[in-house]
Amino acid sequence: MMRTTRIALTHNARQTSITLLQQVLADALDLRLATKHAHWVVQGPHFQQLHELFDNLIEPLDAQIDSIAERLASLGSNPDGRVQTVAKTTGLPEYAVNYKTGFDHVAALADRFAMLSNSSRTAIDETASAGDAVTSDLFTETSRSLDQNVWFLESHLAA
Ligand SMILES: [Fe+2]
Repeated sequence: MMRTTRIALTHNARQTSITLLQQVLADALDLRLATKHAHWVVQGPHFQQLHELFDNLIEPLDAQIDSIAERLASLGSNPDGRVQTVAKTTGLPEYAVNYKTGFDHVAALADRFAMLSNSSRTAIDETASAGDAVTSDLFTETSRSLDQNVWFLESHLAA
């Protein structure tokens, strides 16, 4: 459902943006919960460092989540951040409960932050082609932020 708005975008541009924004919102909320879960359950000799690292990843993710949700609202849609919706629609794989080492968690989070970053990157061009340069700019910012989180995680996996 789209509310009418004074924002001068075509119906198609708004619909394209709303669909992509809602999907990234659901994936990002899933990843936020998975990252907090990792923050709580990680164990091993690098506990303190990884425990803090995982929390540090959440801060920029939260900022992107809020921007994405409020862009949906600005475009006349109701962002759906309910846990039931997230569980039904997330595109990310379920976070396993049996990761053993800290590095298992780092690799699992690196995979998921990269998935989200890469889907946001695809959305940059899709929203721009549909005529919504502002949402495209938001996806650019989201990808930039997520790419940095991927770097933080991948740096721990370097040999
Ligand atoms: Fe904590």
